[in-house]
Amino acid sequence: MSTEPPESAVASPAQPPSAPSRRTFIETTSAVGGVIATGGLVAGPSLLGADQAAAAEAPPSSRVSLTVNGRRHTVTVDNRTSLLDLLREQLGLTGSKKGCNAGACGACTVLVDDRRVNACLTLAVRLDGAEVTTVEGLAEGDTLHPLQQAFIDQDAFQCGYCTPGQIVSGVGCVQEGHTGSADEIREWMSGNICRCGCYVKIVRAVQQAAGRK
Ligand code: FES
Ligand code: FES
Repeated sequence: MSTEPPESAVASPAQPPSAPSRRTFIETTSAVGGVIATGGLVAGPSLLGADQAAAAEAPPSSRVSLTVNGRRHTVTVDNRTSLLDLLREQLGLTGSKKGCNAGACGACTVLVDDRRVNACLTLAVRLDGAEVTTVEGLAEGDTLHPLQQAFIDQDAFQCGYCTPGQIVSGVGCVQEGHTGSADEIREWMSGNICRCGCYVKIVRAVQQAAGRK
């Protein structure tokens, strides 16, 4: 007499009829993820209108009024927009340069309420009511700012990429009174990097503008 169990008893352990297949599992989790990503709103033509769907996807934005080079601007900005991108991309003021975009080179230096700041690290949304001065706002008509003229006189640039930031920073340095010596100028201009190595002439230009040859 055979001791083997009947065939039905040794069949591979069958998956329960309701167990999800690999494919079903992936499809289901993707759909759940989509619901979470839309904040519980299942975006689709039948449930959300196009405007509502766009509003649900739009990043937070704010209206900001600020004065740039004496001109008032009221703009709507994505809350993550830097002052540098606002100046360059929305206001068309491309004098301020994007070097590192991380606060390390000074190419983007502008004055905010007469203080030097790195525009790449400054959120535009925080500047409601502020007064901003960029390199474009220094000259008066055809008359260059004394420091702009000094940069020409001293031949204080080579490629020129750092120059707008150097000049605005130099204006701040002179206004702050940090021009007592070449060492002091070097110290207070140390946030502005010049890859062409024009530092000696930049210091001379700041000294010229400060009236200290
Ligand atoms: Fe802002 Fe370099 S671009 S510090
Ligand atoms: Fe070229 Fe300064 S002049 S980086």
